[in-house]
Amino acid sequence: MDIQKLLSQMTLQEKLGQLTQVNAVFFKPDNTADITGPVSLLGIEESDALYCGSTLNFIGAKDMKKIQDIAMAAQPHGIPLLFMQDVIHGYRTIYPIPLGMGCTFDEELVEECARMAGKEAAVSGVHVTFSPMLDLVRDARWGRVMESTGEDPFLNGRLGAAFVRGYQGDKLQGKYDIAACVKHFAAYGAPEAGRDYNAVELSEHTLRESYLPGYRACIDAGVEMIMPSFNTVGGVPSTCNRLLLDKILRREWAFDGIVISDYNAYREMVKHGVAEDDKHAAELAIGAGCDIEMMSATAYLHGEELLAEGRLTMEQIDRAVLRVLELKDRLGLFENPYRVANEQEEAELHLCPAHRALARRAAEEASVLLKNENVLPFSKNAKKIAVIGPFAKEKGIKGFWACAGRDEDCVTVLAGVRALLPDAEVASVKGCSWEIGETEVPELDEAIELASEADAVVLCLGEYQEHSGEGNSRATLTLSPAQMTLARAVLKHNKNTAAVIFGGRPLVLTDLAEIAPAMLYVWQPGTEGGNAVARLLFGDANPSGKLSMSFPYAEGQCPIYYSRMNTGRPVEDPKVVSKRPYRSRYLDAPVLPLYPFGHGLSYNTYTYDNFTVSDDKITPDTPLEIAVTVKNEGQYQGKETVQLYIHDKFASVARPLLELKDFVKLELAPGESAAVIFTLTEEDLRFHTLDGTFASERGEFEVFVGPNSDQLMGATVYLEK
Ligand code: BGC
Repeated sequence: MDIQKLLSQMTLQEKLGQLTQVNAVFFKPDNTADITGPVSLLGIEESDALYCGSTLNFIGAKDMKKIQDIAMAAQPHGIPLLFMQDVIHGYRTIYPIPLGMGCTFDEELVEECARMAGKEAAVSGVHVTFSPMLDLVRDARWGRVMESTGEDPFLNGRLGAAFVRGYQGDKLQGKYDIAACVKHFAAYGAPEAGRDYNAVELSEHTLRESYLPGYRACIDAGVEMIMPSFNTVGGVPSTCNRLLLDKILRREWAFDGIVISDYNAYREMVKHGVAEDDKHAAELAIGAGCDIEMMSATAYLHGEELLAEGRLTMEQIDRAVLRVLELKDRLGLFENPYRVANEQEEAELHLCPAHRALARRAAEEASVLLKNENVLPFSKNAKKIAVIGPFAKEKGIKGFWACAGRDEDCVTVLAGVRALLPDAEVASVKGCSWEIGETEVPELDEAIELASEADAVVLCLGEYQEHSGEGNSRATLTLSPAQMTLARAVLKHNKNTAAVIFGGRPLVLTDLAEIAPAMLYVWQPGTEGGNAVARLLFGDANPSGKLSMSFPYAEGQCPIYYSRMNTGRPVEDPKVVSKRPYRSRYLDAPVLPLYPFGHGLSYNTYTYDNFTVSDDKITPDTPLEIAVTVKNEGQYQGKETVQLYIHDKFASVARPLLELKDFVKLELAPGESAAVIFTLTEEDLRFHTLDGTFASERGEFEVFVGPNSDQLMGATVYLEK
């Protein structure tokens, strides 16, 4: 397609249409769209909507084709629509929430899952997914932590790039490849007080050091699109933030793909108080570098006046339209506007056995064994099993942002245990609801009776899927009084109990950890959740997940993360409540979280030996080799993620006490050992120095290796330059 020629023939209305995205409701297949409710507030007519260049929130190949026909027939140049959707952790087959995927520390698995999701979405007519979400998350109160791969810039970058590869394949050349859109640029994950959409205050130093690398990794991996965040950063909404969109994204990172605003974010700049009105909002957003406006039409409605008044230029509009047309061209839409939308393939692929198997494997690898005092794995000879708690029979375990996923497709824990052990007597009672703050336990007696008679008890607690995700921040993160009452009663009557905890964020489990001998955190595990949980509990699968986000001891510690700075007055032992005054401490909680980043147990014990560092000096020409031998001392096949950290002891700006620099996930048979050799280069020691350059500084560094951020063996090395 000759895009330049097409552009030269388009009217201004057509061009502005390409820069506008509206909900699929505008293109009702029967063409009788009754545009009411919030949609009518866009201020455009149905006939205008047909000029739009892209749409979101549609489901299925059948509708997609009809909508495409309607839109193309109405477009003067018959330009096809781009169909975009939030395919965040699966399309119809749902794998664990991204925070759980972070715990797999497995780039290949993440890539495979993204490819599967992309394929299911592609046959349903999706061209672009609003994923991956690469917001660094350190405050569990924020409901959207579930969408991120966690608190660490390095891990996020690695996994973000894997998501992009999975969706986009080799530059969208594969039949089922779809375009990815990294979001929410930038620092959406640091809202004040953990409250969604709230202001973000960060120094440019911290922004660059910690918050930007994840997005950058996706740009480097070739992501097609990026979405600015809703929030302000330093008082400026990202949607019109020239530091972010122009200086950093377009100039420093040379990103030439599409920038799409978040939902209604142009108009929200009026609420933020930086745009006088809608017209001004369009001027600010396009002026800063936005291309597509999602779910508002300020540019469409006011573009002509803004051009006439010299507040926008035709060059700016043309450049943005070109980007949109080029993506349509790369996706082959001018030749085949339906692309691979295909109802038969939908029926064949959605929830097919291979996809379910992958989702189950992902749910197994995402689960984190937080604690285990000789309870798990349960014996498969158990005759009577009790599955108790609000999540025992709950199908709502797919998690927020599950796109076309349905609760009814999900396997419950009860169903999973029954399927795995068909000869056992498996009984279940809910006990209480999962409501936040619930105090009543209507079925306490039944739960006690069941627990007392069982050989093994699976206690299913946690947080409901709609209690995390967008707009769902929480000020308290503990289990409800009802769930704790239930847990105490069950544990009093049967010690052979494992708590299986569902959650979209790290919950505060301090009280439960005091009474429960075993705790398996399964996040919102997705379609195959119950099967994965059953296999993990009864030893058919061995837990290997490692926390991608610290679990606070108390909400008051938030934000909390392993890569913290020291203070001038650190406590001697951050694991206990310090008694010394004038220290950086809490009077009622330790400094460290309940469970640290990288923590996660297995049914095996892995020993770390023969830690060696090739030299005590590192130079730009001579990297270091850091070696360790890891041995599986247990009886099960298992996986262990070996982690490499550094600490820059002295620099022009204070450096974190620990920074993850690499990781390797090993698979070891019983008795097997493997040598892991990490290479650390001078480049790995670079940071944003006092004068703003990205460089290393000579001096002492500590290098550490271990199974989590709190159990490390280390050595000191010197960087010579
Ligand atoms: C969210 C985005 C999402 C968009 C479209 C917004 O509310 O912040 O993450 O991609 O809606 O559904």
